[in-house]
Amino acid sequence: MHLNEIEPLIKTKIRTTPYHLNLLSDEERILAFYEAIKEKAEGTIYDIGTGCGILSILAAPYADFIYAVEIDHTAAKHAKSNLEYFSNVLVINKDAKEVTFPKKADLIICEMLDTALIDEEQVPVLNSILKYLKKDGEIIPQKILNGAEAIDMERENICYEDNEANENPNYDVMSNFKIYSEIDFKKEIKEDVETDLEFKISKKGSVSGIKITTFTLLTDHLICGPTPMLNPPLLIPTEKIKVDIGDIIKVKLIYKMGGGLDSIKTRIEKVS
Ligand SMILES: C[S@@+](CC[C@H](N)C(=O)[O-])C[C@H]1O[C@@H](n2cnc3c(N)ncnc32)[C@H](O)[C@@H]1O
Repeated sequence: MHLNEIEPLIKTKIRTTPYHLNLLSDEERILAFYEAIKEKAEGTIYDIGTGCGILSILAAPYADFIYAVEIDHTAAKHAKSNLEYFSNVLVINKDAKEVTFPKKADLIICEMLDTALIDEEQVPVLNSILKYLKKDGEIIPQKILNGAEAIDMERENICYEDNEANENPNYDVMSNFKIYSEIDFKKEIKEDVETDLEFKISKKGSVSGIKITTFTLLTDHLICGPTPMLNPPLLIPTEKIKVDIGDIIKVKLIYKMGGGLDSIKTRIEKVS
């Protein structure tokens, strides 16, 4: 199946909420997940946070059975309707952390991604259901990588970079970019993050924030994102400090994965 086959399905047949329609319209995201599903889908599958059921629709032809779990009542109702012709899919309208699965999974698909996994429940949910994954089972996505750079930003509140801003961003990049963490979903993950980020300043001026970018490894050779609906970069204000080329600055970054954007705290200082 290629996009021209998925497209009519998405536009005409699927019942969805406005939010899930935006997710469906992000072709790069859907096609990347579809590539990963084609490669990995077999046996018993969990589709966690199924939304209107799109990833279950793509996985059902390859699966023995799919448990498609969705917390939102309206989305789950749409998923039930969209998936009614698949006899091997059961939609469960529940918080995934509270589901007792009757069979272990060969594959868990869990798309509750957001930048650095702060504002969605990907990590608490996976921590809670990892016990149901078979020893040699797989997870889509497999990993994420988080990177950061120092910026001088106009806004004073935490915000996502919008798509149009790529052309004309309302911040200046002031330092090198560095990958600061790699999260492997097959391992139990510590939800509290506290990290010291050191940046080398590449421009004279001010630093007043950091930009976080998240890359998603759907499989070990398929990297996706950021895309319009998958992990848009996150701009986080800090105190403002004056900097010169070659200065080293340190930003302490604290947050809780699944704890929401309010859990983010920063402290900035010049090291040299
Ligand atoms: C980013 S959307 C992905 C939807 C769909 N899988 C897709 O790829 O288009 C994440 C979905 O996870 C659901 N969700 C969030 N927390 C959940 C939880 N604890 N248990 C089950 N579903 C959850 C949301 O309601 C939302 O529909």
